Amino acid sequence: MGRLQGKISIVTGAARGIGRATAMLFAREGGGVVIADVLEEGREVADEINRMMGSEVAVYVRTDVSREEDVKNMVDETLKRFGRIDVLVNNAGIGHFKDITETSSAEWDRVISVNLKGAFLCCKYVIPHMIRAGGGSIVNVSSIVGVRGGERCPTYAASKAGLIGLTKALAIDLMKYNIRVNAVAPRAIETPMMYEYKGDELKERLKRYLFGRLGKPEEVANTILFLASDEATYITGEVIVVGGYL
Ligand SMILES: NC(=O)c1ccc[n+]([C@@H]2O[C@H](COP(=O)([O-])OP(=O)(O)OC[C@H]3O[C@@H](n4cnc5c(N)ncnc54)[C@H](O)[C@@H]3O)[C@@H](O)[C@H]2O)c1
Repeated sequence: MGRLQGKISIVTGAARGIGRATAMLFAREGGGVVIADVLEEGREVADEINRMMGSEVAVYVRTDVSREEDVKNMVDETLKRFGRIDVLVNNAGIGHFKDITETSSAEWDRVISVNLKGAFLCCKYVIPHMIRAGGGSIVNVSSIVGVRGGERCPTYAASKAGLIGLTKALAIDLMKYNIRVNAVAPRAIETPMMYEYKGDELKERLKRYLFGRLGKPEEVANTILFLASDEATYITGEVIVVGGYL
């Protein structure tokens, strides 16, 4: 019996990286999964999962999480296909690595729109269905820089710290509905986003990390699965750093 047997999850940003690894793991654990991403590659991920599982447990819904109409449509499609929503993983995100004085207002708005408003919109439209179903679990994908800052990423760090505030406040409001809300805060994970830190800069950074290596998307997915599943029924409002705090 899988740890998500019979449960339906939405994973945003699941066309690649951490989201893809999470969607694959959720399906292997017996769940149905919606891959909500702007990238059409999400369709290939859904096909791959369905081939792997030998049944139609995954579906791709093209979604820009920063657009309210897209999020509404994605939630409607999920209900049409599966009839319920038990787990929401707010993973879609974009990086932004620039000094604040070099950052335009448009860049600030874009990063906050995708990384923070996207999670707000998904919560807004998913939570009523979780309440109707008697409970659920939300996992927000923040970042180590949202917990304790980082170099040359003030906009990204603000968006990721915002997600932690959202996590903690919603955990309080939603307990009465049996909905748990937690976050993971990954360090440096080997995904397409990480290739922005190429070559020597990345090598230098890794020397300072406790683990001295990049994490694998699957290592984050395992933590997301734990928080999403009934193994974490007594945990809410928590942020788990994946990759070592130091
Ligand atoms: N890779 C790391 O080291 C790292 C560290 C800390 C946090 N994170 C966070 O983990 C999450 C996943 O990142 P990743 O490393 O797998 O990156 P990635 O770039 O490989 O994947 C991000 C996914 O989000 C999707 N996406 C982007 N904008 C979107 C939008 N508007 N609507 C829907 N989907 C959208 C992309 O298409 C992509 O599939 C992000 O929120 C990121 O900030 C990553």
